[in-house]
Amino acid sequence: MATTHEDTLTAERAEPAFGDREPLVQLQDVKAHFTLRRGIFVSKAVVKAVDGITLEIARGETVALVGESGSGKTTLGRISLRLIEPTEGRVLFDGQDISHVPEGQLLRFRRRAQAVFQDPYASLNNYMTVAQIVEEPLVIHKIGNREERAARVREALDAVRLRPPEEFLSRFPHRLSGGQRQRVAIARALVLDPEYLVADEPVSMVDASSRAEILLVLKDRQEDAGTAILYITHDIATARHFAHRIGVMYLGHLVELGPADRVIDNPLHPYTRLLLEAVPEPDPQNRLKERSIIPGEPPSPANTPPGCPFHPRCPEFMKGTCEAAEPEWKEIEPGHFVACYLY
Ligand SMILES: Nc1ncnc2c1ncn2[C@@H]1O[C@H](COP(=O)(O)OP(=O)(O)OP(=O)(O)O)[C@@H](O)[C@H]1O
Ligand SMILES: [Mg+2]
Repeated sequence: MATTHEDTLTAERAEPAFGDREPLVQLQDVKAHFTLRRGIFVSKAVVKAVDGITLEIARGETVALVGESGSGKTTLGRISLRLIEPTEGRVLFDGQDISHVPEGQLLRFRRRAQAVFQDPYASLNNYMTVAQIVEEPLVIHKIGNREERAARVREALDAVRLRPPEEFLSRFPHRLSGGQRQRVAIARALVLDPEYLVADEPVSMVDASSRAEILLVLKDRQEDAGTAILYITHDIATARHFAHRIGVMYLGHLVELGPADRVIDNPLHPYTRLLLEAVPEPDPQNRLKERSIIPGEPPSPANTPPGCPFHPRCPEFMKGTCEAAEPEWKEIEPGHFVACYLY
C-alpha cells in the first residue's frame, strides 16, 4: 500500500527549473539566538538555535529540512514565518523584507503564509467544530460572506479528502482519528490559498496508512497552486520522494543542501551519511535510533564547538583543520552544496 503511494509520489514529482524562478522566500544569513538566565549567580547562556543560514524557496518548490532533534529546524521554519524575529540576518517574502516589520503590518503576509505543525492533538481547539476550525482564518482575514466561506470550507475539506465534507462539518476533534485531525489542520492552513506553507513534521504523529495520503494532498495542492513548501522532517527517506531539494541541519547550521536525489545518492557531509544510515526504520520514534547510530550526543546549542560544529562527533575529523575555523560553503556539483573540509 505504502509502496504504491510512494511510487505515485515519485511519478508525480515534476522537476521544474527552480534555478531561473524568482525565490518566494529568502532567508539571508539568519540567526536566532536565545538568551537564557541560568541562575542568580551564573552568567547568561546564549542558545544559538539557528546560527547563520541562507536558504531560498521558489514558488512551486518543496525544500525538506532534516537533522537530529534540536538542530534548529523548527526555529528556522518559525523565522521564515516571522513567528520569531531573527536576531541577525534578513527574511524576504516576495521581495519584501519582513524581518523586523511590526506584527500589525504583517496581516497580508499572515494570509499568504501558513503552517501545519506536528501535533494534531494540540493544534486543534477541541471546543470548535471542524467547520468553525477551518472557517476561522477566513473570518480573521475578513474573506467572503457566510455562504462564500461555507463553500470554501467544503472545498478545503474535499481537497484534504475528508469526504463527503458534510459528514465532518459538525464534528468535534475528539471524534476524529489522528490522521483526520491532521487533515483538518491542513484544510485550515489551505483554506486561505497560501503561497507559502511550512509543514513541520506534519505526518509524524499520524497513523502509517494516512501518511502517504496526506503528503499526496500537499503535493497535489502544490502542483495546482504553485505553493512553496518548507517540509520539516526526521524522515530523510520520505524527503526524497516529497521534496525537490533537501537541506541538512546540524546545530543551527546548514551543512549540506542539494537536489533531493543527489543528497541521498551522493551524500557529501559525513553527518548526512550517518543520518542516512540511521534511517531504515519508518517509525516516528526513530529519534532514539539516530542517537544510537551517530556517535556521541549532539552538543548543546548553548555551547557550540569552534570550527565545524560537527567535528567532535565526526568520523572524518582532521586535527588542526576542522576545529580551527568554520568550513566554507562549496558547490560540489550543480546545485549541491556542502560545508566540509573534505572538499
Ligand atoms: N525560545 C527558546 N528559548 C531557548 N531555547 C530555544 C527556544 N526555542 C528553541 N530553543 C532551543 O533551540 C534548539 C533548536 O530547537 P528546535 O526546536 O528548532 O529544533 P528542531 O530541529 O526543530 O528539533 P526537533 O526535531 O526535536 O523538533 C534546541 O536546543 C531548543 O531547546
Ligand atoms: Mg522541531
